[in-house]
Amino acid sequence: MRKLVYYIATTLDGFIAGPDGADPTGPDGFWPLPADYIRHIADHYPETLPAPARAALSVTAEGTRFDTVLEGRRSYEIGLKAGIADAFPHLRHLVFSRTLTESPAPAVELVATDPAGTVRELKRQEGKDIWLLGGAELAGSLYREIDRLILKVGSLTLGTGIPLFSRTAAFDPRAWKLTEHTVLDSGAAFLTYDRPADPDPGT
Ligand SMILES: NC(=O)c1ccc[n+]([C@@H]2O[C@H](COP(=O)([O-])OP(=O)(O)OC[C@H]3O[C@@H](n4cnc5c(N)ncnc54)[C@H](OP(=O)(O)O)[C@@H]3O)[C@@H](O)[C@H]2O)c1
Repeated sequence: MRKLVYYIATTLDGFIAGPDGADPTGPDGFWPLPADYIRHIADHYPETLPAPARAALSVTAEGTRFDTVLEGRRSYEIGLKAGIADAFPHLRHLVFSRTLTESPAPAVELVATDPAGTVRELKRQEGKDIWLLGGAELAGSLYREIDRLILKVGSLTLGTGIPLFSRTAAFDPRAWKLTEHTVLDSGAAFLTYDRPADPDPGT
């Protein structure tokens, strides 16, 4: 069955953005983007690059991991405010929002209802894995549905900011199994953790 994968850039202290909710990797951002980090994404996760970055880097690969991306309205609006109504035209693109009434791009699907139910329905369909882009609030809503974490760990700390999961997420400690790791010369690390299979209720 296809997996829900939270593929996300995080600091060493578990933040995905500064407290202001701006894009930390944007032109005025503070997030380090070393050349080997960008190259690693282009080589191994090409479908996760937004269309303008794919064009700038001459990336045309379809990618093997994801065919669907899910994001919360606040994350989506970062691109929208920069004039990009659909940053991922090469993927099925769902944006969760209870306030947006009309999709700014024909291919972007707005979903106002229960994200967990939507994900469970997507998992029943055929396809590649489903990329949960973020942000923290949507990831908090989907905490129990996540099958895999791919953490792009930047070698920085923030002290405070927006955490991997919003503070409204349920307290639900989980152990994860490290299944893949790559540490780049620049100090960035890509860590993949899988959720161990649920125990068989019959045993
Ligand atoms: N480091 C990274 O790789 C990365 C990736 C993505 C985002 N980010 C950062 O994350 C920040 C944004 O994250 P965020 O936590 O503030 O917001 P978010 O999760 O992107 O968006 C929150 C919005 O999603 C909608 N939503 C959330 N749960 C929902 C539910 N159960 N049902 C329907 N709609 C739901 C709501 O939209 P409405 O208010 O319209 O109802 C809510 O206001 C930005 O700073 C961004 O740069 C970082």
